[in-house]
Amino acid sequence: MAEMTRISEILRQQPLGELVEAQGWLRTRRDSGSLTFLELNDGSCLASLQILAEEGLVNYASEVKKLSTGCSLRVRGRLVASPAKGQSVEVRADSIEVLGWADPETYPLQKKRHSFEFLRSIAHLRPRTNALGAVARIRSALNFAIHSFFREQGFILVQTPIITTSDCEGAGEMFTVTTLAPEHGHKGDPYADDFFGRRAGLTVSGQLQAEIFALSHGRVYTFGPTFRAENSNTSRHLAEFWMLEPEMAFCDLRGDMEMAEAMIKALIASVLAECSEDLVLFDQHVAKGLIDRLTQVRDCPFVHLTYTEAVAELQRSRREFAFPVQWGTDLQAEHERYLCEEVAQAPVIVTNYPEAIKPFYMRLDDDGRTVAAMDILVAGIGELVGGSQREERYDVLARRMAAAGLDLEQYGWYLDLRRFGSVPHAGFGLGFDRLVQFVTGMQNIRDVIPFPRTPGSAPC
Ligand code: 4AD
Ligand code: MG
Repeated sequence: MAEMTRISEILRQQPLGELVEAQGWLRTRRDSGSLTFLELNDGSCLASLQILAEEGLVNYASEVKKLSTGCSLRVRGRLVASPAKGQSVEVRADSIEVLGWADPETYPLQKKRHSFEFLRSIAHLRPRTNALGAVARIRSALNFAIHSFFREQGFILVQTPIITTSDCEGAGEMFTVTTLAPEHGHKGDPYADDFFGRRAGLTVSGQLQAEIFALSHGRVYTFGPTFRAENSNTSRHLAEFWMLEPEMAFCDLRGDMEMAEAMIKALIASVLAECSEDLVLFDQHVAKGLIDRLTQVRDCPFVHLTYTEAVAELQRSRREFAFPVQWGTDLQAEHERYLCEEVAQAPVIVTNYPEAIKPFYMRLDDDGRTVAAMDILVAGIGELVGGSQREERYDVLARRMAAAGLDLEQYGWYLDLRRFGSVPHAGFGLGFDRLVQFVTGMQNIRDVIPFPRTPGSAPC
């Protein structure tokens, strides 16, 4: 049998008596008489592999006894049943090769538990910890689960641009992309001499471009980084985050909500099935009861409320909110969380928000006051998904775009989609980092993305 090298595979298959080779970083060293026990982790799974090093190794005194947390090693030996508690197998080392030393005086990760705040200050080393290591595996599993889900549902992946001249959400939160020197002075349009000949920025959403392909391919999705220059220093906002945006032609608000709910349930089902070891870590050390809560979300229907009903529910509550609620104002995270944590005890889909607080592209309802919007709210976070049926009627859309101050000529292509073969269509955006937060129970969104970008902070 060929040598195995990934610790996850070695632990899963447990080929007792076979030769294995493992490579990774040392978590701990423990000496016991003429024996040394090493815990080796290679990031492939939460568990470390126990290595038994004996005196007879050629470098036992010169190197093995000097190993410390963070050193990188290549170990070869036979897998044997472990007599000790805590693991069923261990490797009796034939050779231990030190690939890289880590000075114990300066290596910042010690065996004790470090705060997530401290770990943020060492973004280059924190993936070697249990919690951040587990986040990375869950993020990866969710990525694959998203692509599998949409593939099975007949969706086509469209890669929408990162640099764009369209401000989808119309909130003026685009980072400008420019090659002009800061002192560049130009009368009139300051971007006329710029790289693209007009103002360009980093995308706040791929939706408008996804709509183009929904109106040719029916069911599409885009999934990529998204940028917002909003000055929100909260535990659920990033300046660079990942958003998944499906867009469906021949679909109304109901179909949109059904797809979003089915997708969230399928994604949770897949991590429950595939990442159980990592989820147990979060359940025990980060968010007690996490696995039960995720199981409930997977199995129970979401609760539906119109915005008007949600406002009435909030006004009826005796809770003192920092922001008072009245019809016409946007819901704040505290309101969103109250609705799912206290009122519904399940994810809540709030629909039909006032037209004035939502972007121009959402379909105007017959009452003329609300739009066919839907937000999915979840416990601990608030808004996880924002979506809508899109305005497919040319005249209504042109009127709303003009009212929003958009240049109708610049967005002529968007209006064209309503001039030529317009169809009812709908879509939504899922904040991927918020999904990872929800699935892991991590408090702060900065700890579920490898390299968080927030106001004043972009270390590496
Ligand atoms: O509600 P939003 O702004 O919707 C859109 O951008 C639509 N164009 C989506 C669509 O219909 N195709 O953003 C969608 C989701 C939010 O529900 C939230 O989960 C996440 O993106 N989000 C953020 N996540 C992290 N940091 C931020 N600053 C976020 N802003 C939005
Ligand atoms: Mg939103």
